[in-house]
Amino acid sequence: MATEEVVLKRIDGHVATLTINRPDKLNALNIETRSRMVQELDELAKNDDIRVVVITGAGDKAFIAGADISEFEGRSPVDQYRVMTDSSVFLAVDRFPKPTIAAINGFCLGGGCELAMACDIRIASEKAKLGQPEINLGLLPGGGGTQRLPRLVGMGAALKLLYTGDFIRADEALRIGLVDEVVPAGDVAARAKELAEAIAAKSPVALRLIKQAVRTSMRTPLDEGLRQEVSLFALAFASEDMKEGVDAFLNKRKPTFIGR
Ligand code: COA
Repeated sequence: MATEEVVLKRIDGHVATLTINRPDKLNALNIETRSRMVQELDELAKNDDIRVVVITGAGDKAFIAGADISEFEGRSPVDQYRVMTDSSVFLAVDRFPKPTIAAINGFCLGGGCELAMACDIRIASEKAKLGQPEINLGLLPGGGGTQRLPRLVGMGAALKLLYTGDFIRADEALRIGLVDEVVPAGDVAARAKELAEAIAAKSPVALRLIKQAVRTSMRTPLDEGLRQEVSLFALAFASEDMKEGVDAFLNKRKPTFIGR
């Protein structure tokens, strides 16, 4: 029997969906899954037909229940460091140049929550549970959780989650800003696809530049970010997509963007 792929890729028009496919292990991120994800993201980044990527988990129970804890035993600190740095799935998502959406269909814990936070937009099932339970293992997040969580939800809410390891429900995650939308269980994939398609109809050039500018806002002082925004605006101004968008507006028609 052929081995099941740990990451499934589906392409619908300009939207690619990557599904972590280890439902029996609640889609826990083992080494193979991480490296497949990095490989798939690398390919999708280079594929001009793909404009938006959705990341989700297989089955109806989990998005990703964190790092695969069974791989921790017997691993040396040096090996662990290499797993986290050699080809980091979190960095691959963070640096992915096109819009990304996490479709959170269930447990979204530890590395799963960190992967969702590395995405641009998070849509959660009303049944999802989110948290950073590393503290219960005597650990701390290592995929960006201590950095991205406070940026998304503020210091107090972040430290409460990190200190207690408690899981929160999707409505609470929405209230604190950890997710951007909550939808009925069963509607997550459809809603993520709908949003992805709406974004994919926009100018790929402008989308990339928006992402770059907003990422910059999290990493540089305001003056530097504002300077970069003007430069990126000028770059968008030189695109064929900009000419198309303006012409379509002036002639009261729908634009068709080509990504140049
Ligand atoms: N790593 C490895 N395996 C995991 C896992 C993880 N992070 N999360 C779940 N699994 C496995 C379980 O070991 C179990 O495998 P088994 O059937 O071979 O025993 C299977 O997935 C189903 O999980 P189970 O614990 O039986 O489901 P549950 O509904 O009782 O509990 C959770 C669900 C999410 C509460 C529980 O699985 C859990 O706490 N997982 C760990 C979460 C975590 O600490 N993540 C951070 C890691 S740094």
